[in-house]
Amino acid sequence: MTSVPDIRIAQDLQSWAPEAAELLLSIGQTTIQSNGRFLLALSGGSTPKLLYNQLTTSIYADRMDWRKTVFLFGDERGVPPDHPDSNFGLAQKALFTPLHIPPNAIHRMRAEERDLTRAALAYEETIRSVAKTSAPAWPRLDLILLGLGDDGHIASLFPGTAALNDRARLVVPNQSPKGVTSRLTMTLGVINQATVVLFLVTGASKASMVRAVLEPRTEAERTLPAALVKPTNGRLIWLLDRPAASALSPSIERPMVQGN
Ligand code: 6PG
Repeated sequence: MTSVPDIRIAQDLQSWAPEAAELLLSIGQTTIQSNGRFLLALSGGSTPKLLYNQLTTSIYADRMDWRKTVFLFGDERGVPPDHPDSNFGLAQKALFTPLHIPPNAIHRMRAEERDLTRAALAYEETIRSVAKTSAPAWPRLDLILLGLGDDGHIASLFPGTAALNDRARLVVPNQSPKGVTSRLTMTLGVINQATVVLFLVTGASKASMVRAVLEPRTEAERTLPAALVKPTNGRLIWLLDRPAASALSPSIERPMVQGN
């Protein structure tokens, strides 16, 4: 059974960041209470920095037992971990270091390696190991964060790429049409197995793509990578700020409520 998207709209960026932090903490605390740990996959790009900056403030930093959180990544660029374009590098500087996350709780994708097939397989084993799930069962992560690309991509699953259709692997190499081209990415197979998938999207520049994904009018829009995110037995949440939601019809909005 696939879930109907839970669409939440914050009035502006100033209220969006605390909402994102509250949502993550609420899901994390509930998960730790029931499972004793929290398997979290971080998204890439620039939006997560807004969330990280919030989570590391004194209001939030101590509200979560970070020692029980395992950090994974949904995708990574083919650059060294200290490169300015590294998704891990951003998280290391803005989240892991300020929160004193122990290195053994952080699993970065080694997308800078020459043999990306080997690196992808190695990361699959990492996911299986932390999720305690052996093949052929699909590992179930507790929360996967996603951003929305201008072309409707998620993670490094770009429109028209073979990786989008891979239903066998958990992690695959892929090519980005712009920026750092060489990538590693989780596939829809593992993304749609998550207990919760949370899209974090802000800014007017994303408004038309948000409308295309959430209120599609054509087959092309219905098959955008972001539109294929339909957790099989999980929750799908979109947390938007008002500018990113500005092309949606008013009826789609659910009033923002506290908690998850
Ligand atoms: C990446 C991301 C990618 C990102 C979107 C949104 O490695 O680039 O995983 O999917 O989430 O492109 O990026 P922004 O948050 O920078 O808009």
